[in-house]
Amino acid sequence: MEDWAYTEKVKDHFMNPRNVLKDDPAGYDGRGQTGNVKCGDQMLVVLKIDRAKGVITDCKWKTYGCARAIASTSMMSEMVKGLPLDQAYHLTPKDITRELGSLPEHKVHCSVLGDKALRAAIDDYYERNGMQDKVEREAARLICQCMNVTDEEIEHAVLEGARTYYELQERTKIGTVCGQCKDAATDLLKEYLRRHFDIKSE
Ligand code: FES
Repeated sequence: MEDWAYTEKVKDHFMNPRNVLKDDPAGYDGRGQTGNVKCGDQMLVVLKIDRAKGVITDCKWKTYGCARAIASTSMMSEMVKGLPLDQAYHLTPKDITRELGSLPEHKVHCSVLGDKALRAAIDDYYERNGMQDKVEREAARLICQCMNVTDEEIEHAVLEGARTYYELQERTKIGTVCGQCKDAATDLLKEYLRRHFDIKSE
């Protein structure tokens, strides 16, 4: 298998994924679905929640994603059980990969799928229970008007391996018409490199 230089934990979670959804998602308190059309990945996460304590009691998931998405979501589903909602909400892909050992850097985007679906499921629970004020949904922001590129697409390109503005341009075509978006795109590139890979640049 290509570059499968993974930890025993990753292999174990891929071969024996925990908490795979087998019953009807309608019986759960929160449901989140996400997918990256360009990758062809889809992820569904459902949650059971102890309302009195605000704690996740069960987390199940289903994906058509790759082996890395399976391993990281399996790990995530173990990590969030017993967690208060606000802690689970702020779990990051880095937290999950740290727990797994490590995934090759360019595969981090796969672990973002489960993490995004988890937040969508918590948002769904908040919305169903009249707690809209707790929802922190990240709406995509248009950064490049000419080429129609959003901040989400920039983040995805960074997770897929873009490290410089030139590499970002190659992947998204951002800034290739009037160029006015260059500063905003460069700032976001730095922000995502710092957030996902601890890479700090000037
Ligand atoms: S706004 Fe990005 S190229 Fe014009």
